[in-house]
Amino acid sequence: MTAGRKVLYEEVADRIGGMIDSGTYRPGDRIPSIRELSGQMRVSANTVMEAYALLENRGMIEARPQSGFYVRSTILEPEDRPAKREEGEGVAPSPVILDEVSLQVMRNVSNISLVPLGGSIPNSDLLPALKLSRMIASESRRQPLQSISYAPAKGIKRLRAQIAKRSISSGCPLSPDEIVITSGCIEAMTLALQAICRPGDTVAIGSPVYYTFLNFIQWLGLKVLEIPSTPKEGMSLEVLTYAIRQTPISACICIGNFNNPLGSLMPDEKKRELVRLLSRHDIPLIEDDVYGELSFGAVRPTALKSYDEKGMVLHCSSFSKTVAPGYRVGWIAPGRYYQKIKQLKTLFNIATATPTQMAVAEFLANGGYDHHLRTIRRVYARQVTQLRDSVGRYFPAGTRVSRPEGGFVLWVELPDRFDALKLYEMALAEGIGIAPGRIFTLGEKYGNCFRLNAAFWSEEIERAVKTLGGMAGGCFE
Ligand SMILES: Cc1ncc(COP(=O)(O)O)c(C=O)c1O
Repeated sequence: MTAGRKVLYEEVADRIGGMIDSGTYRPGDRIPSIRELSGQMRVSANTVMEAYALLENRGMIEARPQSGFYVRSTILEPEDRPAKREEGEGVAPSPVILDEVSLQVMRNVSNISLVPLGGSIPNSDLLPALKLSRMIASESRRQPLQSISYAPAKGIKRLRAQIAKRSISSGCPLSPDEIVITSGCIEAMTLALQAICRPGDTVAIGSPVYYTFLNFIQWLGLKVLEIPSTPKEGMSLEVLTYAIRQTPISACICIGNFNNPLGSLMPDEKKRELVRLLSRHDIPLIEDDVYGELSFGAVRPTALKSYDEKGMVLHCSSFSKTVAPGYRVGWIAPGRYYQKIKQLKTLFNIATATPTQMAVAEFLANGGYDHHLRTIRRVYARQVTQLRDSVGRYFPAGTRVSRPEGGFVLWVELPDRFDALKLYEMALAEGIGIAPGRIFTLGEKYGNCFRLNAAFWSEEIERAVKTLGGMAGGCFE
């Protein structure tokens, strides 16, 4: 080769790179496949592969599994700055007093007449509605008397056995007798808090806090200690350690896998450390693992419960994000609190409805649940990227968006002077829902942030993102 002359693959890379620079291909666009480009440019597939490897090295494109090559999104992620111990000094337990604005926003976030970017609701078009309706009918016909009778307080055995069978994939092999079926994950969480805490007690939670937790904690008369968290790894153990020394903490709530709203996935080592830290201080850990099955990667992440050696982790989850939110079927594996939880479940609710338990058990046994999970994980992975890319395209410079590895919510952060509540109000007037940051805290934080739901994707949604991006420019103080 003559010095200074480019080899063929560099020329191919420059050609595609030039089209990216000129905006012909925009962030998030799919570029031609290796076969397409080799045909179009009359070069070998190997040459295109080398060109694409070069563009990947230059950070201009990225390969997406089973999907092809895409122009890399230029949008930044929120800064990953884990809070240090000293920041714990500003952290103090606070009684939950939700103001009228927050309560009103919380009610609106999941309003189904809005473009659904606000609530963290799954896309029911992706859920097995027909199969389940057939199963609920056939199971009720097969066992008519059982279907109309009270189930045992701990739930029907077949369902508990199915959940136990699957628990091995999250690293905590449970037996059916360790599980109590609940009416969704939220009931599991509230039973856990009631089993552990008394009014006035303090609960430590990763902040931003999923606002439903704030709501029920208010009703239970507990105090909240917000532990700063990052979108990469979740809550700061340094600050939690500091807080434990400063103030009595009765329980800790953690969404370790694909946190709502941050999307964070706590690394295994940190999960182990968290469980150890809390059990050393005899503080029960209430785990919400409702998004655990929605990993975009090949493996399902471990549950915090899998590191539990003393029965101090109360593992809560449900089928609301993966199968049927309306069926209200969830569960809790409460460790040493088993008897207490069963007692409370009987006291407040007698038992979870029988027909939906029967249908979910049948779906898990014979309905192709794993195949269904693979499909929705793929769709959510794609839509999370599409929504991220379109925020990058339409929002002002300086916007940062989380890059979750599972689940379907995105955390969006703009510069400090941005007022997300103003954007929420403007969006509402346009029929678009978003969840402004202020509902995820009792303090003054996250005023420049909001959460988006990526469970839905359509041209209408993309238009809504464009509208939001256009309005965002007018929301700076
Ligand atoms: C973190 C988290 N936990 C629990 C729930 C609700 O669970 P369920 O409908 O099973 O009560 C949600 C729904 O948005 C959630 O995001």
